[in-house]
Amino acid sequence: MRIILLAVLCFGMQQAASARNDREESHPDSVYVFTYTSGASTDGIKMAYSVDRQTWIPIGPNHSFVKSDFGSWGSNKRMFTPSVLYDGGKWFAVWNVNDEVQQFATTESANFWVWKPQDYPYLDNHENFLCPCLLKQAGKYIVRYQTKSGNNYEISSLDFRQWSSPQRISSEEYNHTNRHTDVMVSGNKQSGEIHRVPYPLVKDLVYKVSDASRRNTLYNENCGEDGGRFRGVKSLKASLSLTGESKPISTDLIGIFFEDINYSADGGLYAELIQNRDFEYSNLDHGEWNAKSFWEFKGEGASWEISTDSPIHANNSHYAVLKSEKGASLSNNGFDGIVVKKGDTYDMSLFAKSMNGKRQTITVMLKDGDKTLASTTIKVSSESWKQFNSILTPTADADKASLTISLKGEGNIGLDFISLFPQKTFKNRQNGLRADLAQILADIKPRFIRFPGGCVSHGNGLENMYRWIETVGPIWERKSQSNIWGYHQSKGLGFYEYFQFCEDIGAEPLPVLPAGVCCQNSSRGGHGQQGGLPMSEMDDYAQELMNLIDWANGDPKTSKYAKLRAEAGHPAPFNLKYLGVGNEDLISDVFVERFNYLNKKIKAKYPNIQVVGTVGPFFEGSDYEYGWELARDEKIDIVDEHYYVNPGWYIHSQNYYDIYDREGTKVYLGEWASRGNRLENALAEALHVTNLERNGDVVVMSSYAPLLAKHGHTQWNPDLIYFNNTDVFPTVNYYVQQLCGNNSGSRYVYGDMTVKATVEGRNGNTMEVSNEAASLRVRSSVVTDEKSGDMIIKLVNITPFDTPVDLKFETKDYQSQAETSVISGKPSDTDIKPVLSHLSVTENTTYTAPAYSFSVIRLKKK
Ligand code: AHR
Repeated sequence: MRIILLAVLCFGMQQAASARNDREESHPDSVYVFTYTSGASTDGIKMAYSVDRQTWIPIGPNHSFVKSDFGSWGSNKRMFTPSVLYDGGKWFAVWNVNDEVQQFATTESANFWVWKPQDYPYLDNHENFLCPCLLKQAGKYIVRYQTKSGNNYEISSLDFRQWSSPQRISSEEYNHTNRHTDVMVSGNKQSGEIHRVPYPLVKDLVYKVSDASRRNTLYNENCGEDGGRFRGVKSLKASLSLTGESKPISTDLIGIFFEDINYSADGGLYAELIQNRDFEYSNLDHGEWNAKSFWEFKGEGASWEISTDSPIHANNSHYAVLKSEKGASLSNNGFDGIVVKKGDTYDMSLFAKSMNGKRQTITVMLKDGDKTLASTTIKVSSESWKQFNSILTPTADADKASLTISLKGEGNIGLDFISLFPQKTFKNRQNGLRADLAQILADIKPRFIRFPGGCVSHGNGLENMYRWIETVGPIWERKSQSNIWGYHQSKGLGFYEYFQFCEDIGAEPLPVLPAGVCCQNSSRGGHGQQGGLPMSEMDDYAQELMNLIDWANGDPKTSKYAKLRAEAGHPAPFNLKYLGVGNEDLISDVFVERFNYLNKKIKAKYPNIQVVGTVGPFFEGSDYEYGWELARDEKIDIVDEHYYVNPGWYIHSQNYYDIYDREGTKVYLGEWASRGNRLENALAEALHVTNLERNGDVVVMSSYAPLLAKHGHTQWNPDLIYFNNTDVFPTVNYYVQQLCGNNSGSRYVYGDMTVKATVEGRNGNTMEVSNEAASLRVRSSVVTDEKSGDMIIKLVNITPFDTPVDLKFETKDYQSQAETSVISGKPSDTDIKPVLSHLSVTENTTYTAPAYSFSVIRLKKK
C-alpha cells in the first residue's frame, strides 16, 4: 500500500514538474543560466541563458562579468574552475587562483554585474585549493574542493567571509556535490553550472552588456572621424551668456601628483648625481642588480668587495672595501652620465675609514673621458667612519662625466655614501631638487602636491610599504628600498624634502600613506596579493601615521617628532591639512577593516585633518562602488578617484559629477589622463577641467598622472613632462594643466552656452540647427578669482571649425584688454605651446575659438 502511495505521489510530482516546465518554456518568467569560463585562465566568469536547456545564448557574447584580481599585474591574475551559487536572489562565486597557494577567491553580487571586491581567505591545512564546488546546506555556505595531492576537503561559512578549517571528505562526497556539466555555447563545448533565475535578471544583464558596448564605442571616438561626424555642417557659432549666479568652488582644484615612477625621483627631480651612492642596490630592485651595480672598479692585482661589518648606519648596511697594492679606482657614471657645467660648484662628500689602521690617500676626480675636470685629495687615517666634504668646480662642461675615486699604491679602505650634488638646486636647497624640473612643476602653480605614490606608496608586498619615518633625518641614515616600478628608491628625496618643496612653491602637502595593506598587484610578499598588517600591529601603525601629523604640525618643545623636523632645519610647522590613507586599493575586507581602524583613530585625535580615502582605479566597477559605499558609511572626508581613459570618455561623461551628492564626501581626482600626448588628448583634458570647475563644490582637487618620465626609463606612458639629463620636454597636456593652474578661480559663474551649426537645407538654403556632436565639443566654464578680482573664461573647441563665440555679459568691471592664451593645432599635433595675445572686450564681444583649441581669456579687474 505504501509503495503504491509513493508511486502515485512521485507520478503526481513528475506531472506537476512537467506542467511547470511547459509553462516556463512558453512564458519564461524564469530561465536557465549557465555560468562558465572559456577555459583561458585569464578569462572571467561568463553567462549564457536558455529557456529549454537545449539552446544556449551567450550574453555578451564574450563578456566576462568578473575576472580574478589575485596576483601581480597582467597574466598572473588567473581564474580556474569557478563555482557559482545563486541563493536568495544573490550570486556567490569561488575559484582557485593557481595550484600553489593555500588561498582561494571569493566574491558575491546582487545582480551579477557589480561584484564585491574579491577576498582571498587562507586555508590552514598547508594544502592548495583546486576545483571547488559551492553549495548551501542548512544555512551554511559549503565549499568542497580537491588538492594537487588528490585529497578532498570541505570548508564552511555562515557569512561567506569567515571560513572553517578544512575537513577531509571522501571523493564520493566531493563528486556528489560537483554540479559542473558540459553544454554547447555558440558551437563550443563549455564546462560550467546551470542555475534557474528570474528572467528580468537576464534581461537586465543583456541590456547592461549592450549598453557597455555602446558606451565603449562612444569612448573610443576620436577626431579622425570628424569628417563623418560633421558631414553637412558648414560652420558653427556659439554664444555664452552668464546668468549672474555663482557658487564657491575649491581653490585647490589643480595640483600635482608626484610619484617615483619613470625615474622621477632618483635620476630625476632629486638632484643627486651619483647612482647607488650607498651600495644598497640589490636584486630586489631589478634583475641582476647588486651592491656593486653602476660602479666600475679598476686596478692591477687589486680587488673590491662589499662589506656589512660596522656600517655607517644599520639602515645603510653595505659599503665598499677597496684593496690595492699598486693602486685602484672606483668610478660612477651617475644616471646615464653626469652632467656638469663649467664654473658651477658641486658638493662632493663621502664616508671613509681605513681598514688596516694605515693612513691612505684618495683622489676624487670629476672626469670627462680621460680629461680631469676637477679633483680633490682626501687623507684617511681613522679606523672609524668619517665624512669628508669638498667642493668640485669643473673646468669645462660635460654631459657624460663620471666621478672617480682613486687610491694610490697600497691601500685598504672602506668607502660609503659617495655623493655629488650641484649647489645650484631649486631655491639652492642642500640635498635639493633639480632646478629646471622643479621650476617646470612650480610653473603649474599647483595648489597641492600628492606624494610619494601611487603604487610606490602601498608598495610591492608588506615589507615594501612606504614608511615615512624612514625617509627623514640625515640622508645616510634613511632606509632605501626597492621601487615597485623596478628600480631603487634612495629616499634622499624624503618627506622633509617633499614638504619643503610644497612650502617653496606654495602648495599644500598631500602625503599618501598605505592603509596597512600593500598593493594588490604586488609580486612579492604573500603571492602578490593584498596582504594586510596583522590587526595586532595596527595600533602601532596608526600611531606611525599620526606621528607624521605631529612631525609636520607639532611643537618641537613638546613633540619628539616635531623636534626631528626642527633639527632638520624647519622649526615652524608645515601646516599639514590633508592625509591620504591608501592608494587605489582593492576594497577587500582586509582593506576595509584596516582603513576604518586608521580613519577612526586619526579623526578622533586630529579632527581637523582631512583624511583622503580611496575608491579604486576605475570610474566605475567593484572598487568604485564599494569604495563609495564605504565613504558614505564612514563619512570619509574626501576620496581619491582614478581613471585613465580615452578622450571619448571625457566627451561623453561631462555630467559625471553633476549628480554627485553635494553634502557628503568630497572628491579628489588624484590620477587622471586621456591616454595620449596629442592635442586631441590635451583638449579632452581641458574639456574635463571645465566640467571639474562646474563641479568644484564636490571635486576639491585634481592631479594629472603620471607627472614625470625620463627618456629611456619610462614604465608608464603617457606622462605630463618628459626629460633627460639636460633637457625638459613639457607635453601639450602640460600646457593645459599649466593654463588651468594659473587661471583657477574661487567661484564658478553659471552660464548658458549655445552652439548652432549651419547646414545646407534641401532647397540649397542654409539653416541653423542644433548639433549634438558640436554641443558636446564646444564647451566653456567661467570662474572668478576673488583674490585678484579677475574673471576667467575657458573655451574648448574640439571641432574642425573656427567657432565664433558671442560673449554676452556685463564687462564694465574689467579692463578693456583681456589676456588670451590659446593652444590650437591639428588633433595629432604633439609639439604645441600656448600663444599669448590680447582681446578687446566690450559688452558684445565675439571671440573666435580656433578649430581644435583651448582658449583661456582672463578679464582683468579694473
Ligand atoms: O600613475 C601610475 C600608477 O597608476 C599609480 O602608481 C597607481 O596609483 C595607478 O595605478
